[in-house]
Amino acid sequence: MSTQTDFRKITTNTLLLSKKSRTKIAALTAYDFLTARLLDKAGVDVILVGDSLGNVFQGNETTLSVTLDEMIYHTKAVTKGVDRAMVIVDMPFMSYQTNPDEGFRNAGRIMKETSAGGVKLEGGERVAETVKKITEAGIPVMGHIGLTPQSIHKFGSYKARGTSAEEARILLKDAKILEQAGAFSIVLEKIPASLAKKITESISVPTIGIGAGPNCDGQILVTPDMLGLNVEFRPRFVRHYAELASGIISAVNNYVEDVKKKQFPNSKESY
Ligand code: KIV
Repeated sequence: MSTQTDFRKITTNTLLLSKKSRTKIAALTAYDFLTARLLDKAGVDVILVGDSLGNVFQGNETTLSVTLDEMIYHTKAVTKGVDRAMVIVDMPFMSYQTNPDEGFRNAGRIMKETSAGGVKLEGGERVAETVKKITEAGIPVMGHIGLTPQSIHKFGSYKARGTSAEEARILLKDAKILEQAGAFSIVLEKIPASLAKKITESISVPTIGIGAGPNCDGQILVTPDMLGLNVEFRPRFVRHYAELASGIISAVNNYVEDVKKKQFPNSKESY
């Protein structure tokens, strides 16, 4: 076991310093070992094992059915591929909403059973006590406000939040409450860029935006979306950095054709 500190490793402190020095934080999601290893090698600062795995890995309409055991299973695979990035784990629906003690116990389970660096949970004022309890135990907590997919049935749609003056006021208040409760960072999802800017300037911890404009301290996207794997999902906040779906389909077409035509494997590919 090494007793030396790895100064390259991203910590809550690195992220705080990034905000202070106005160095943007790049975050992406991962749910498996190979993807996590590639993201880490490519310099991503924060890897989120998001409960978006319910959508893009499991094929569900919502994230609600994702379990704590599933989050732990995926996180164990992800952390094995990561040397530098900070790995954050989404606490799934109903693993913290019941009461602060249960949230605290489940956050502790995630930290004990994976090598993650912290947890993320959705909500503002209503989860503040839980955030406080978890952070006081030394577990870094990332908040998440704006569009919170675990509350989809309350909101009834995935449209932008914080578009009315009253909703904007509540979101700004929620961000300040989460900061007070000890959150080391806050995800702002699908809110107007002007509101994200105001929140970012009003709190001392870094904001990570998704569909929240350019003025957050960092950005996050769901990796299969930005790699063009999730072909049906094309909201305007997702930039496609690759079109892997067409690349994969064409590679697999070629493979199928080669097998059918008895052109794979050839003698060099055989023993
Ligand atoms: O689950 C997830 O991937 C997320 C990001 C969209 C922030 O919460």
